[in-house]
Order: sequence, then structure tokens, then C-alpha cells
Amino acid sequence: MNIEFTLNGTIQKVSITSVERVLDVLMRQCNIKSLSGTCLEGRCGSCLILVDNKPAYSCIMPAFFLRDRRVETIENFTKTREYSLLYSELNREGSASCSSCQNAIMLMGMSLVRRTQAPAKDEIFDTLANAHCDCIAPEDFASAVLTTMQHLATARKTP
Ligand code: FES
Repeated sequence: MNIEFTLNGTIQKVSITSVERVLDVLMRQCNIKSLSGTCLEGRCGSCLILVDNKPAYSCIMPAFFLRDRRVETIENFTKTREYSLLYSELNREGSASCSSCQNAIMLMGMSLVRRTQAPAKDEIFDTLANAHCDCIAPEDFASAVLTTMQHLATARKTP
């Protein structure tokens, strides 16, 4: 079956089988390097992606689900100002995550900081929980997200 979807802003046309997962397609056909399939059961967060800006575990999502969706991985953000600001804020909070969690943490952060309205802390904590990371304090993560959003809002107002 042939399907089309948007990956990191670019239209992708792929051929899939009924047994393939999104993770398989992204890694093998789309050459996405930031993902890994550590548990393949939706428990570790190493395959986390955004689908229509919502967190999703690509290891438990059938590939046909990609049809006409907007998929983003951390590759879409690493060169952005938002990413640099969030990364700096996390470091300032003393909450640099371990290398195995970093992509998922930053991806969850990016899904939050791109919003125009600040999310409630509970929503930030829920979003962070998708990453299954024990090495970052939820309060520190929330603080970094909200401070980054303040910086971005200030920058938008500055002529
Ligand atoms: S590989 Fe662990 S959540 Fe997908």
C-alpha cells in the first residue's frame, strides 16, 4: 500500500505493508536517526514522535496510521531558536537529561513551547510523562518550558 504524509515539513511517499509500524517506516525508509526501538512496547519513550503535534509512540502505531498526518521528530527542531532557548533553560535549571532521554524530553518540550498560550503545569507534567524519564525533575522541566515561552513572547514583541 502506498501512503503519503508530511515528515518534518516535507511530503513523504512510502510503500508499506500491513504489519509495519511507524517506527519501521521512519527509520528504514525515511532515514530518521533520532529514534530507537528499545522496548517496542510503548514503555520507554525512545521512539517518541509528534503526530499532528501530539506525542505518539511510533513503535506501537501501525504504519497505515501515517496517511495524511503531520509527523515531526526532533530533527525538525534542533536548528531552531526555540530549541536552543529550551536547551539553555534546562541546563540552567540543572536538568540536563541523560543521553537516552534527551531527544524525547526535548521533543516534548518543543511541542509545548511552540504554543502561543502557556500550558498549565499539570499539562506540562503529563506531556513530560510521555518521555518515561526519571532523570529530570518535572518542576524543573516546567520551569524551563515556561521561561522559554516568556523569552519567545518577549522576542515577538520586540521590534
Ligand atoms: S520503543 Fe520504547 S516506547 Fe517505543
